[in-house]
Amino acid sequence: MSKVSVIGAGNVGATAVYYIAEKNIDEIVMVDVVEGLPQSKAIDFLHAAPLRRYNATIIGTNDYADIADSDVVVLTAGIPRKPGMDRMDLLKTNVGIAKTAAQAIARYAPNAVTVVVSNPLDVISMVVLREGGFALKRVVGMAGILDATRFRYFIASKLNVLPSDVMAMVLGGHGDTMVPLPRYTSVGGFPLTELMPAAEIEQLVQRTRSGGAEIVNYLKKGSAYYAPGASAAKMVEAIVNDEKRLCAASAYLRGEYGHSDIFLGVPVLLGRNGVEKIVELDLLPNEQRELDQSAAAVREGVVTLESFYSPG
Ligand code: LAC
Repeated sequence: MSKVSVIGAGNVGATAVYYIAEKNIDEIVMVDVVEGLPQSKAIDFLHAAPLRRYNATIIGTNDYADIADSDVVVLTAGIPRKPGMDRMDLLKTNVGIAKTAAQAIARYAPNAVTVVVSNPLDVISMVVLREGGFALKRVVGMAGILDATRFRYFIASKLNVLPSDVMAMVLGGHGDTMVPLPRYTSVGGFPLTELMPAAEIEQLVQRTRSGGAEIVNYLKKGSAYYAPGASAAKMVEAIVNDEKRLCAASAYLRGEYGHSDIFLGVPVLLGRNGVEKIVELDLLPNEQRELDQSAAAVREGVVTLESFYSPG
């Protein structure tokens, strides 16, 4: 039996459920404060089951008690960005929501792995950890897979190759300072750096950094949700099936990569216990410098957080 709960039935939450339903999960619970919203979406998903060939129980609810005994809880609740906003601008509103959610997870599903998607996710992960009192490895932020899938797509489209053949690593905070690593990016096993001139790679790196903002600027009223939903589902699959998948995710650091007491995107092995292992790569000085700058941006977010929030 596998049970996955998704908190927040907005665009990201519902799209995550859409992709999760196709991953052989037994029970999916969608929770939202808006009455009728998660219920309507759950029923709608069930209507599609014969066509999409899944056989999950999908429940929409306004009651956190229904997340009881989940293996994984995906936190998507919160407001999204609008044009001109930084992900950090969402902090005050989304902290309050995360606090309530974390307390509910601790109460009803204390053994779950929580995947944090609500932005700014590296800081919100800290709130979830502190409020829930969870084991460090059981709280993990979703961004590395999302940032990497954007980078992978841009590379595939430029080289005119199959997108899934491109493998990439993007470390750092989920923000403008994220650190795509061309040196650890390959196409069908060949290093990207052998296949594309450095200047072109740099353009794709920049486009990856602003990949989320590009969508916000078009959409105006919100942010992306198909790629974020698919990325969250990929993490859920890795955790539920204990895949030990090597990918980047926001993990709590205790000295790894020279940083402590913050969540930051680093390579991890994702499995049943969440972050089974943080994989330490030897970074070149310029890569480490970029990662340090990104960590500094996340730490600034934590300082802002602490200016108005204390756990409990
Ligand atoms: C993005 C938002 C979800 O990157 O953070 O699209």
